[in-house]
Amino acid sequence: MRNHGTDFYDNDANFEKYMQRRQWQENANDTLEKPVIMELLGDISDRHILDLGCGDAGFGVELLKKGCAAYVGIEGSRKMTDASTSNLTAYNNGTVLHMRMEEYTYPRDTYNVVISRLAIHYLQHIESVFRGIHQTLKPGGKFIFSIEHPVITSTLQPSGIRTNWVVDNYFIEGYREQQWLGGTVHKYHRTVEDYFMALTGAGFRVASLRESRPVREHFLTEETYERRRRIPLFLFLEGVKNG
Ligand SMILES: C[S@@+](CC[C@H](N)C(=O)[O-])C[C@H]1O[C@@H](n2cnc3c(N)ncnc32)[C@H](O)[C@@H]1O
Repeated sequence: MRNHGTDFYDNDANFEKYMQRRQWQENANDTLEKPVIMELLGDISDRHILDLGCGDAGFGVELLKKGCAAYVGIEGSRKMTDASTSNLTAYNNGTVLHMRMEEYTYPRDTYNVVISRLAIHYLQHIESVFRGIHQTLKPGGKFIFSIEHPVITSTLQPSGIRTNWVVDNYFIEGYREQQWLGGTVHKYHRTVEDYFMALTGAGFRVASLRESRPVREHFLTEETYERRRRIPLFLFLEGVKNG
């Protein structure tokens, strides 16, 4: 049976540990990933937003509070979808669909913004998903995504506080397994060039390429800040649909 990136989150123990980790005060999502995503997103008022691999849709709630017109999350894990549904109950312009992003039909010219935060490195094939995203954006719309940085996915190592890094097998794209938070995660490694080419191949103009460069004020301690200056954890790309 083929392993999916969502399997990890449908295991009760993994789900609990992941949700706890996400709440840590100095978690990498909040200190390194979210600040760049917010910068790239800019003003979202009146925007129709699609979020691929939305997790518990906590970010959707935030976007709805900030005034986006509508938020649709796509989530492949049953447990995450249930958490999203519960978080979005108060919003009639917020919804989540339980399916893999590879299965979504991507209705034409529908959204102003498609985002995906730390989910696309779980996909075996990205080309058809990127074409679907291009199709579902309105002209001028943007696709913003973050992934684990290819220098990390090339050579995955077990979770824990690392003190050294190895980058190896960088040009050997494809399946990787990682022991993380007590479970096994299934991911796919691609090079920076692969992501860039998939975007342009789907018709996008690449408008930004960013890395998770740490900013001191986002960290409580000097120690964590210095550690985060050693290696990039995340890569971000923004594609724009001409029009
Ligand atoms: C690291 S979590 C990030 C969740 C959320 N985007 C955030 O930043 O908090 C990755 C999420 O992507 C989901 N996911 C992985 N592969 C997916 C796929 N093929 N289709 C839809 N969701 C997927 C997982 O179930 C998980 O909820």
